[in-house]
Amino acid sequence: MRNRVEGRSWDRALVTGASAGIGRAIAVRLADAGTDLVLVSRNRDRLEALAGELRAGGTGPDVEVLAADLSDPDDLAEVERRVTASEAPIDLLVNNAGLGYEGPFHTQSSSEVSETIGVNLVALVRLTHAALGPMTARGRGQVILVSSMASLQGMPMTAVYAATKAFITSLGEALHEEMKPNGVVVTTVLPGLTRTEFHQRGGWDLNRWPSVGWQDADAVATEALAAAVRGRAEVVTGRLNRVYSVVTTKAPRRLRRIAIGWAARRR
Ligand SMILES: NC(=O)c1ccc[n+]([C@@H]2O[C@H](COP(=O)([O-])OP(=O)(O)OC[C@H]3O[C@@H](n4cnc5c(N)ncnc54)[C@H](OP(=O)(O)O)[C@@H]3O)[C@@H](O)[C@H]2O)c1
Repeated sequence: MRNRVEGRSWDRALVTGASAGIGRAIAVRLADAGTDLVLVSRNRDRLEALAGELRAGGTGPDVEVLAADLSDPDDLAEVERRVTASEAPIDLLVNNAGLGYEGPFHTQSSSEVSETIGVNLVALVRLTHAALGPMTARGRGQVILVSSMASLQGMPMTAVYAATKAFITSLGEALHEEMKPNGVVVTTVLPGLTRTEFHQRGGWDLNRWPSVGWQDADAVATEALAAAVRGRAEVVTGRLNRVYSVVTTKAPRRLRRIAIGWAARRR
């Protein structure tokens, strides 16, 4: 059976990073609308617990659990196989899993740098690539890329993270246009500061960041899916983030760089 989230219908969504934060909130929202799900992240116990909740004793949607470390080549290949499977095909891919370490670039470990690029970029590109072929063949499908406001400019102290997100925003912009004739929609989501496990995992010092303008994961999920339903190319979530994004993208690049460098040194 096909189900709808406010107008657009998806049969089955694969959500990466579904065990926590924004990905979990997106999965819950999709399940509420009756969309069947494949939940992906490393933590199998958390995924199984969520799947149990969403199945609601058999009255909810069909929910598969696929525990995988997206920075591991073998695990990534297994998720790719699920994305391309012709049985119970995926018609919505939500590339949400992501991480970012805060701190001077030269002091980050090489494994932190590789993990960030592996999950945020390599996995996202490979899964998107895997999804778009079958979706194009079927003439329908949708991909959501979770980027960040950090993609709008270079960010001292989270340089690798912001650079991975700049890549995603650029990729999403290009693929949205490229896929238009194929009946496939690519939507890029740019959240700002969101209350999840993200900052604790990445060792961020929250005293260095503004205390206003934060969103919760449900609000981001709602805006992300609403934008996908409307077939939009890109959405910046949160009113304050939208104002900031307009101001920052209109400012001369040199001025922006100097201001962000000054703010980062001052914090
Ligand atoms: N929070 C913010 O302020 C914010 C702002 C802008 C953009 N974003 C973006 O939003 C997305 C979701 O972040 P969040 O805030 O919801 O963070 P979160 O609460 O830390 O959740 C991250 C999710 O990614 C999964 N994940 C991390 N590493 C993984 C790996 N190696 N393999 C598979 N799954 C992995 C985690 O699951 P497991 O631990 O179970 O693997 C978890 O489900 C990210 O792309 C992030 O960059 C967040």
